Amino acid sequence: MTTHAPSEGQRALRLAIIGAAGRMGQSLVHAARARSDVIIEAGVVSPSSELVGRDLGEIAGIGALGVALTADLPAALAACDVALDFSRPRATAANLAACTAAGKPLLIGTSGLGPDVQHELERAARHIALLVAPNTSLGVTLLIELARQCARALPGQFDIEIIEAHHRHKIDAPSGTALALGHAVAESRGVTLDPAVLLHRVAGGHARRQGDIGFAVVRGGDLVGEHTVLFAGPGEQVTLGHRATDRGVFARGALDAAVWLARHPPGRYGMRDVLLKQ
Ligand SMILES: NC(=O)c1ccc[n+]([C@@H]2O[C@H](COP(=O)([O-])OP(=O)(O)OC[C@H]3O[C@@H](n4cnc5c(N)ncnc54)[C@H](OP(=O)(O)O)[C@@H]3O)[C@@H](O)[C@H]2O)c1
Repeated sequence: MTTHAPSEGQRALRLAIIGAAGRMGQSLVHAARARSDVIIEAGVVSPSSELVGRDLGEIAGIGALGVALTADLPAALAACDVALDFSRPRATAANLAACTAAGKPLLIGTSGLGPDVQHELERAARHIALLVAPNTSLGVTLLIELARQCARALPGQFDIEIIEAHHRHKIDAPSGTALALGHAVAESRGVTLDPAVLLHRVAGGHARRQGDIGFAVVRGGDLVGEHTVLFAGPGEQVTLGHRATDRGVFARGALDAAVWLARHPPGRYGMRDVLLKQ
């Protein structure tokens, strides 16, 4: 993992946060303040935002940082080494295009990206270092690896169910992390993931089919994020889980990943690379 101080003779990595006025944007501002190897140089808000021109630090409640929120993404990128996108899926294509044009590495933390954007992700990754991470917690990254191993080790009669719970404001479901867990265990079992299993259950009339990977979704209150992978076999169950109690884990992991990404050549990366490949 990175140390949180720049190596001798190196300057702090300059970051642009896209979605700077959102919950994760604010969390990144707080997390960045605790370390000296990164500095937030630009905060980008949506073009319709009334916050353009306001100070990023004041919005985050930590006092003025001298960084005025902007909707001008190309100008923000010109002043930065790496961009972190925690905004909305509808902004992803434009963010990819801007980062590619500027030749700047991009970490996309925004979740709920549709299949329509996959081609653009692949295209961008030929020109810039691109890390797509619907969950930037290092603990969740490890959970995905453990789930992968369990799915490989346990026989097929162990049914796999993925249960996730998030705060009442979360829009996409199942969460990007639940889907990432689903893809990981499906890959280990050599099957294709069908997230529609969740909908079949809601519609009723379908018993569980052998090999289904099921999803269950809970939304309520201020739950930060919980993921459980249940391997339910005959007469025994194995349960793997992760609970985030503080949004800061995502921000701290994202900053570690941004520092990692800045050292790597163009290509498509995930948090797994940050965890396993130093
Ligand atoms: N990777 C992870 O570990 C992780 C952790 C938590 C959340 N997330 C994901 O990160 C995303 C943001 O989460 P959040 O909780 O911070 O949501 P949020 O509080 O709603 O913040 C999103 C922000 O993005 C802004 N935005 C929308 N379009 C934009 C654009 N074109 N350019 C710049 N900013 C734009 C929104 O501004 P307006 O309101 O003005 O549109 C809003 O301020 C979601 O997809 C969420 O699921 C990922």
